[in-house]
Amino acid sequence: MGWFSPDIATMDDLFVHALQDMYYAERQIEKTLPDMVQKASDRELKKGFQAHLKQTKGQIKRLEKAFKKLKLEPSGTDCPAIDGILNEANEIAADVSDKVVLNAALIGAAQTVEHYEITRYGTLVAWAKALGYADLARLFGANLREEKATDKKLTGIARRKVNRKAVTRKSKPMSRREQEAMLAASMGVPTV
Ligand SMILES: [Fe+2]
Ligand SMILES: [Fe+2]
Repeated sequence: MGWFSPDIATMDDLFVHALQDMYYAERQIEKTLPDMVQKASDRELKKGFQAHLKQTKGQIKRLEKAFKKLKLEPSGTDCPAIDGILNEANEIAADVSDKVVLNAALIGAAQTVEHYEITRYGTLVAWAKALGYADLARLFGANLREEKATDKKLTGIARRKVNRKAVTRKSKPMSRREQEAMLAASMGVPTV
């Protein structure tokens, strides 16, 4: 279902669509976080990702409660925005070779996700209130607070140590063997 397709006629339809969109997004985030836990080498960052994975599972439960209150089965709808953000996060994580710089990259990617969630939950809270669903607004508000706290925590880890450590890392010069392999690869010559 696309935005403003004929399937969305009323504000209630739009609201349910946003809920389904967020349900899909949270479940994609739940799948991605274990990978981020594994890639983070800073202990505090790793623990932070682990804690947020646990929180994310709780957030999914709150969304399921919201579906129940609306007498709907929990279901997701494709969300190209979160897919794009997570794909980019995976790509950058795969491209960074230095593990200290990787911590900085992981924080940057995670904060992109948090900001996306903050904007979506902000909208969901506003729409729930406008539609008179005070109990749903409370559920989304609880998720919103957790996303904001996570974003703040990540900023703290980056500022206190990760960014500072990352900027001191220098790329080491390539060995002769690495230079030859790179040259051969660029010419399509197989190396042994
Ligand atoms: Fe979340
Ligand atoms: Fe989050």
